[in-house]
Amino acid sequence: MCAQHTFQVRLASRPDGMPARTHWDMGWNDINGPSDGEVLVETAFISIDPAMRGWLRDAKSYLPPVAIGAVMRAGGVGTVIASKHPDFREGEQVVGHTGVQSHALVPGDTLRKVNDTVAPLPTFLGPLGIPGLTAYFGMTEVGAVKPGDTVLVSAAAGAVGSIAGQIAGIRGAGRVVGIAGSNEKCRHLVEDLGCDAAINYKTEALGERIREHCPEGLDVYFDNVGGDILDAALAHLRIGARVVLCGAISQYNDLEAVRGPKNYLSLLVKRARMQGFIVSDYAEQYQSAVEEIGGWLAAGTLSYRTTIVPGLETFPETFQRLFTGEKLGKLLIQVV
Ligand SMILES: NC(=O)c1ccc[n+]([C@@H]2O[C@H](COP(=O)([O-])OP(=O)(O)OC[C@H]3O[C@@H](n4cnc5c(N)ncnc54)[C@H](OP(=O)(O)O)[C@@H]3O)[C@@H](O)[C@H]2O)c1
Repeated sequence: MCAQHTFQVRLASRPDGMPARTHWDMGWNDINGPSDGEVLVETAFISIDPAMRGWLRDAKSYLPPVAIGAVMRAGGVGTVIASKHPDFREGEQVVGHTGVQSHALVPGDTLRKVNDTVAPLPTFLGPLGIPGLTAYFGMTEVGAVKPGDTVLVSAAAGAVGSIAGQIAGIRGAGRVVGIAGSNEKCRHLVEDLGCDAAINYKTEALGERIREHCPEGLDVYFDNVGGDILDAALAHLRIGARVVLCGAISQYNDLEAVRGPKNYLSLLVKRARMQGFIVSDYAEQYQSAVEEIGGWLAAGTLSYRTTIVPGLETFPETFQRLFTGEKLGKLLIQVV
């Protein structure tokens, strides 16, 4: 057992609204380990995810809240520098819950080996990680996308949405339309990711554009955003539509005043269903999904973007970018 100097981002207080720099404590600390079963990981990239906002609330959810004073929970990818777990050796690359810190002691049983000769390390936090798996199971299982379907995706230029839209296309959807928050992102959706059309929800009349681009109505609506955008989509469902409740980022900074869907009667009239899911529901199928997604990446039928911000000390402002939209694809912090 040895002491390791590590730079850590800890939760100082619970935000009410948009998290700011004042909600975090940052600095160098010593950690001692690894103990039996643990692995000491030097992190290379930290995943910045909307779910982190939920973990800051002192409320019951699918994971316990991050305690005041604790290292912020996050996914990360890095290299093993010491191991007391029989499956891991120094020098191996791993992905898991490292937290927002430069070095992390992680139970070996929760880590997965990765390899940057197979794909660049950020890929394992993007299409070959939780965002890719979320898109995959959300679109194929919950959305049950079928050939010929008309599919609408919100936050379509983000980590999950960008993969979800492309998977719809790969699975034979007849029409894929993305919603995003800038003209540049809309151009990217059509020119780079193969969407048939894109709608800038900040500048265009959303309902009118959905009607124009999806005149027969929606078979699948993959919702990352909630609020007004969910309502607009509900008004355009086709009979038998599937609404995938993946996330609701427009609501995360004010959960006391969550806006429910006004247009939910559309589900009744259109005999549609709206279903939420948590990606870990599908953990037993991760391996086969990763292989299929990896095959699409290798074949060039699936592409992705990353926005990589250097320096753990940028965490407070980098985290805000999820809510301001100042990023394209998967948002990461590069540690080393
Ligand atoms: N169910 C699950 O198991 C699961 C797992 C992972 C993620 N998720 C959910 O999936 C969603 C997407 O996650 P991600 O990691 O891929 O994030 P992301 O889409 O890469 O980043 C969030 C994006 O949301 C958009 N946005 C932010 N505030 C908005 C608002 N008020 N109205 C409309 N759009 C807004 C921004 O894009 P624009 O520039 O386009 O506004 C921003 O870039 C989140 O809701 C997340 O919680 C669910």
